Amino acid sequence: MIDRRSPNDKLLAHDASRLEETAGGPIDLAIVLGSGLSSVLRDRFTHVSIPYDSLLGMPVASLRGHAGEALVGTWHGKRVAVFAGRVHLYQGFSPLQVTVNVRLAHAAGAKMAILTNAAGGLREEMQPGDLMLIADHLNLTGRNPLVGYPHENPFVDMNDAYSARLRAIVKSIAAPETRLLEGVYAGLLGPNYETAAEMRYLRTIGADAVGMSTVLETIFARFLGMGVLGISMITNIVGAPETSHADVTAQGAAAGPKLADLLGTLIAKL
Ligand code: HPA
Repeated sequence: MIDRRSPNDKLLAHDASRLEETAGGPIDLAIVLGSGLSSVLRDRFTHVSIPYDSLLGMPVASLRGHAGEALVGTWHGKRVAVFAGRVHLYQGFSPLQVTVNVRLAHAAGAKMAILTNAAGGLREEMQPGDLMLIADHLNLTGRNPLVGYPHENPFVDMNDAYSARLRAIVKSIAAPETRLLEGVYAGLLGPNYETAAEMRYLRTIGADAVGMSTVLETIFARFLGMGVLGISMITNIVGAPETSHADVTAQGAAAGPKLADLLGTLIAKL
């Protein structure tokens, strides 16, 4: 078997100590911010920004709307690492590279990962700006970060991968005016948006929202025993004419404060 773990683990351990030193102790939880959302937590807590390119094991991408920095600090008494920007399979990164955020957070002590993303809505009642709690996912990327991973038991249980406890807390604290839905997220390889036939297929197989991230991070986080909360920001309705990356990131930025409020209330409550 190819041992792709050992060299990476050394770099991860190095980066993890940097996160811990910056935070003043082990990280309690990690937050990953999706497209258009990368700046929404900047003003919410006191932090130090660590640019991704100064972290030895962190892959770096340059697509607009994906800033690359980790915001490390304390928010409502919890040590948090916010990954503002992530890399994607569609940029040519490997499944192990796209899961570095989660693996790094875990190495720095995090027991929980809050994964956010921008997603296309597949349900009739959805509107851009809605938040959807991810209850479950369909991994349609055709990839898996545990393929070839040198571990005796890669057969991770994915029942209840998205913590029912955390979802219940979010439902109990969401502001009444926040449109908070719950559903199944389909993770695709991308980078194209869906054809009409793919849209019908996704609906038929039980997807409520579709995007190009998150599912591999969830798999690795569950493999590591971390609790996962997934939140999709619905940035567009699938099938609406001319979905563009600019619209997706603009919608993420516009509706971002609502998500930031929700995350702050949640973290205060944990
Ligand atoms: N499809 C796939 N990924 C997405 C979409 C979409 O409509 N919107 C945001 N990410």
